[in-house]
This record gives sequence, C-alpha cells and structure tokens, in this order.
Amino acid sequence: MNDVVLTGDRPTGPLHLGHYFGTLANRVKLQDKYPTYVLIADYQVITDRDLPGQIQRNITGLLLDYLAVGIDPEKVTIFQHSAVPELNQLLLPFLTLVSVAELRRNPTVKDEIAHSSQQAVSGLMFTYPVHQAADILFCKGTLVPVGKDQLPHVEVTRLVARRFNERYGEVFPLPEAMMGERPLLKGLDGGKMGKSRGNAIALSASEDETAALIRRARTDPDRLITFDETHRPEVANLLTLAGLCLGRPPQDVAAEVGHGGAAALKSLVTEVVNDFLRPIRARRVRYTEADARRILAEGNERARERAITTLGEVRAAMGF
Ligand code: TRP
Repeated sequence: MNDVVLTGDRPTGPLHLGHYFGTLANRVKLQDKYPTYVLIADYQVITDRDLPGQIQRNITGLLLDYLAVGIDPEKVTIFQHSAVPELNQLLLPFLTLVSVAELRRNPTVKDEIAHSSQQAVSGLMFTYPVHQAADILFCKGTLVPVGKDQLPHVEVTRLVARRFNERYGEVFPLPEAMMGERPLLKGLDGGKMGKSRGNAIALSASEDETAALIRRARTDPDRLITFDETHRPEVANLLTLAGLCLGRPPQDVAAEVGHGGAAALKSLVTEVVNDFLRPIRARRVRYTEADARRILAEGNERARERAITTLGEVRAAMGF
C-alpha cells in the first residue's frame, strides 16, 4: 500500500522544544519515506477562540518553525485550510455520516469544552473533528502522526471513511494514528508545557531568552543532582531536556553535574539547549518573508490540486 502522511498544527503561537521532540523531529524523518502533507490548520483556530488579530503572523511563524527544523518544502506539501476550498467542501457530505450523539461523545471535545473560556460553545466545537476528517481524507492520508488527545479525531475519520465507502463506493483508505514513543517534556515551572504558559522554550527563542527561561526554571535545594522523576520532577525534567538535546540518557547528564547543584545543572542545560537550537536558528534566518509567502503559495497550490481531484471523486460517487 502507498502510504501518505498527513499531520498539522493550529497556528496559535510559536512551536517549542516539546513540539520538536514530540513530533517535529519525526516529521523530518517521515518526509524522506512518504509523500507528506503538513497542514497549518487556520480554520480550526476559530473553534474555541476569537481569531487573533495576528493570525497572519502566527501562520508565517508556524511556517518558519517548520522550515527551521528542517521540514523540506520540496518534499513536503505545507498548506493551510483557508487556501483550499475543495477540502473544506468535503465537510458537507462528511457531516451527514456522523450522528449528533457520536459528535457529543468525543472525549477530546468534551475536555476542550470543559476548559474553554468562551461563554457559549459553538457548533464548530462539535463538528471540527469531522472537518479534521476532511483534512486527512482529502489527500487520502493513511498515516497520521498525532498525540494521544487526537486519537478520537482519527477514530471519527475512520468512521467517516468507512461509512462513505459503504454508502457510495470505495473512495477512501482508513487512516491510522501514528504515535511515537514521545518523552513527555513538562514546562519549566513543572506544569504542562504550553505555547501560551510562558514555561516553554520556543524554537525561535534567542540565546538570551533561552538562558533567562532556564534561569527561572523550578528546581530543588538538593546539591547532588539525580534523575528521580517521582521525587524530583523538576530536576528530572531539566535532565530529560538536556538528555534529549544531547541524545543521551538523562541519568548520564545527572552524573555529569554530580554535586554541582541547581546552578551547575542550569548552566549545563542552557549550554546544551543553545547548542541544540543554534542550527535551527541559523536555518530560520535563511528565509525571508517573501520566501515564506512563496513556499506557502506553492504548497497551497499542490494541496488544492489534490483536493480538487478528491472532491471530484466524491461528487461522482455521490451522483452529483
Ligand atoms: N487538531 C490538531 C491540533 O490541535 C491540529 C490538526 C488539524 C490536525 N487537522 C489535523 C492534526 C489533521 C492531524 C491531522 O493539534
């Protein structure tokens, strides 16, 4: 079978090291093995927040993050929802294939509603997983690298594909989620690492910003540095981060710091993270705004051709 990879991100802010080790590094590997699509999911942003005024900045920033980590626009089709109307049009027939009860049951949607700061829950909150099915199926994606929270959406996608095929004839493959063993990096304050929590090291952070963030990281007073995730989660998290950057086990890093305490640990982590980010920063500055615009326009064009073909098959299968 000819696998096709599709994955994506909502353009809500700069990507950070958690994204890098969680998924971006894997994408850079996948691009050499499979036809790969990476979606800047701009229409999905409005699910649970007002469209930020800086949406274009977020989109360009996300694209530059991709390019900086080595996603190669010659190999990967990078594109955005808002430039591919034929993808969005798939939502209409797809919505008929899923019941309201099924939409209500989606655990990720439930969780997002529980944590939403908006007063009213929009209809899109319940239906965006079906839109996400269109994201995956427009290019007949078969492998979907995602985190655990996205599994219910891949299930919806399989449901939509299966029911479409049953009702109208074989058009879509059934995609599968691809979950790597991803070490969970916490934020520098010990909480969940988040784009907007001020506890993450953005891939676009300067040397000084990186140093300042690590200086403020939470640790403990024990001078002997050991890797103990249960009793010393903050120290363990810094060791994990350094270990990931070095490609070495965190226990090794702990042994290297030894009796140096939090200060020595932080100075080592700062050096290691900055070394790691240096080539990423260097790649980022090779692209101008104009390059970014051109690359996205080319990706959008390719995605659009793909979407036009699939929508044509869908319409034909349905008898339009
Ligand atoms: N929902 C995903 C997220 O918030 C982004 C996304 C949109 C996506 N469409 C997708 C991921 C299709 C994988 C496949 O991270």
